[in-house]
Amino acid sequence: MTMNIQNLKPVYESKFGVPAEFAVRAPGRVNLIGEHTDYNDGYVFPCALDFNVTILGSPRNDNTVRAYSVTFDEMCEFSLNNLSVRDKAWCNYVKGVGYVLQPEGYHLKGMDILIAGNVPLGSGLSSSAAMEVASCLAYETAGGFDIDPVKRALIGQRAEREYVGVQCGIMDQFISSLGRKSHALFIDTRTLGYEAVPLPESGVSIVIGNTNKPRQLVGSEYNDRRNECYRARDVIRKDLPRVKELRDVTSEELERYAPQMDEKAYKRARHVISEDERVLESISALKSGDVKRFGELMNQSHDSLRDDYKVSCRELDVMVEAARKVKGTLGSRMTGAGFGGCTVSLVKDESVERFQKEVGEEYVKLTNLKPDFFVCKASDGARRIF
Ligand code: GLA
Repeated sequence: MTMNIQNLKPVYESKFGVPAEFAVRAPGRVNLIGEHTDYNDGYVFPCALDFNVTILGSPRNDNTVRAYSVTFDEMCEFSLNNLSVRDKAWCNYVKGVGYVLQPEGYHLKGMDILIAGNVPLGSGLSSSAAMEVASCLAYETAGGFDIDPVKRALIGQRAEREYVGVQCGIMDQFISSLGRKSHALFIDTRTLGYEAVPLPESGVSIVIGNTNKPRQLVGSEYNDRRNECYRARDVIRKDLPRVKELRDVTSEELERYAPQMDEKAYKRARHVISEDERVLESISALKSGDVKRFGELMNQSHDSLRDDYKVSCRELDVMVEAARKVKGTLGSRMTGAGFGGCTVSLVKDESVERFQKEVGEEYVKLTNLKPDFFVCKASDGARRIF
């Protein structure tokens, strides 16, 4: 699924009249478990995909950035002297990263870049984070400086929050920047410490199902959920000052303070707190080879996202239910922010084909939408190609 650089080089030359001097790449991601925990300082467990955003580029001797998107077949041009004016949606990721980098003291150079991507757009596989992280690496390469991968993730996250306007957590940019082949990363989003955990080499596969239901309202609903979590946190924090975020609250404590909270805040918090517990348990399960338990925890995660966090939708639920009916499925859940996008399932190798057929048929029958399935290959994070 990787995009072939040799095919992109002549496209670059035809757009800019010179050969590209560098190429960089950053992947999308799938989150295996730990959803809507990252803006509560919690735990997540994503892996980088072999879908990515690739940028070919050459530095310029002025302050102009010209960016050509292969996906949209569109050119966008802006000056590094005037980054605050918003542009076309896809171009805002490039602009937004420049906007965040400049006041940090990095000396940005103009550049001519071609952007190509094969992360399905609007599917919850973090095409935006891939754009941000790849753009950051492009500015670094054109400007002749290097940013540490954790900082690069933080820069990408700030672009999303301060420029694009979604108050996201750190998960997507972090995994796009630091992912590791054949591993998922167990990330503590408070300390930004992480551990690469090997995924089973055989026996089970991670299957992504794209509902092809475009995510709707994701920005505003996402920001609402975040505020609901903060309402719950604030109630508890008034009484327990050691509590900084929901990450610091146990289930017993939540129950104790529940009567002081509105119902929504309570349910959102119940999801976050139980999800953190599930992540911790799922890592131990995976490490001890207990994939069955890992699958059960994935199922519980989905049910909690559907019932308490209310970020699922009919299409995701239909696909998850269909997946769970297939013999050989160990667990299935929605992945990413929700409201459409993808599911992720843990499926025995010998059942993967049957899974795609049976889930596909049932899904088409019940939704009239045609799904896509991909068997996940955990890949490396952002890198320079030449
Ligand atoms: C989006 C955000 C992430 C995370 C997930 C939900 O992908 O960008 O930071 O909050 O939603 O887990």
